[in-house]
Amino acid sequence: MPPRPDEQAVRERFGDLYQLVQAPIKREIERAVCGCDYGGTSWTTRREAEHVGALLALAPGRRLLEVGAGSGWPGLYLARTTGCDVTLADLPLAGLRIAAERAVADRLPGACWIVLADGAALPFGSGAFDAVSHSDVLCCLDAKLPVLRACRGVIRSGGRMVFTVIFPKPGLSSADHDRAVESGPPFVETALAYPAMLRQAGWVITDHADLTAEYAQTVRRLLREEEAHADELRGLYGEAEFSEKLAGRRRKIRVLEEGLLRRELFASTTADAPGGR
Ligand SMILES: C[S@@+](CC[C@H](N)C(=O)[O-])C[C@H]1O[C@@H](n2cnc3c(N)ncnc32)[C@H](O)[C@@H]1O
Repeated sequence: MPPRPDEQAVRERFGDLYQLVQAPIKREIERAVCGCDYGGTSWTTRREAEHVGALLALAPGRRLLEVGAGSGWPGLYLARTTGCDVTLADLPLAGLRIAAERAVADRLPGACWIVLADGAALPFGSGAFDAVSHSDVLCCLDAKLPVLRACRGVIRSGGRMVFTVIFPKPGLSSADHDRAVESGPPFVETALAYPAMLRQAGWVITDHADLTAEYAQTVRRLLREEEAHADELRGLYGEAEFSEKLAGRRRKIRVLEEGLLRRELFASTTADAPGGR
């Protein structure tokens, strides 16, 4: 069994990562792989972000909350391109500081608030938001159901939530399950399937898509870019860490090709919305 991750250690790792991914070579690779340069750590591409914005019906005057917003991807992009107001919430200060600088530099058309907050204990009143999004966040934390409940607690009736999440294919042998867990994000395992979790948290699914093939393509593009920029990346990471990174990408691609790990998108609305049940 892979060792159980420690939440505090994961947050500290994200804090370090947000500083590292600001390096010019990392931003260049991010532009080539995902079509953006916010220093993102999810697998959300620009195309996917645009789809999320459409599913959330974002527009000027709408209030979007992004949970686990990191350095602002894709929340700041959605705010810039749709004109909505945005609130970014996360725990590592390092990412939020970078997001704050980017928000100022981008001269967003709407309002922007940046909040140091746990996704499971959101410091907002009920109905504070029209839309909530999170990109590969639930697979980076243990308290998945409490986060979905907290999101439900701050959205208005009939508001929308869209998220992506990575998880092991259900029903794997224990050896394959362990391989999926080792290649996935730190809290990729889940005792309860996401549709059941959404129901328990007071959400109704309105759209659901399997993004595993796109995820595999993105990892392949990333591996190609990292191989093409090997000298610069060796300088950034050091030889041993860079070799381990490439080996990890190749393992992940194999796991995805074998169908052991999935990445899916869920769109939902509140269960009390008209037509919500
Ligand atoms: C895969 S990253 C996604 C970050 C960003 N949205 C992006 O797409 O680049 C997951 C994020 O979830 C955040 N996170 C983990 N546990 C959290 C919690 N309990 N509350 C809020 N954010 C959390 C991490 O700090 C990290 O920034």
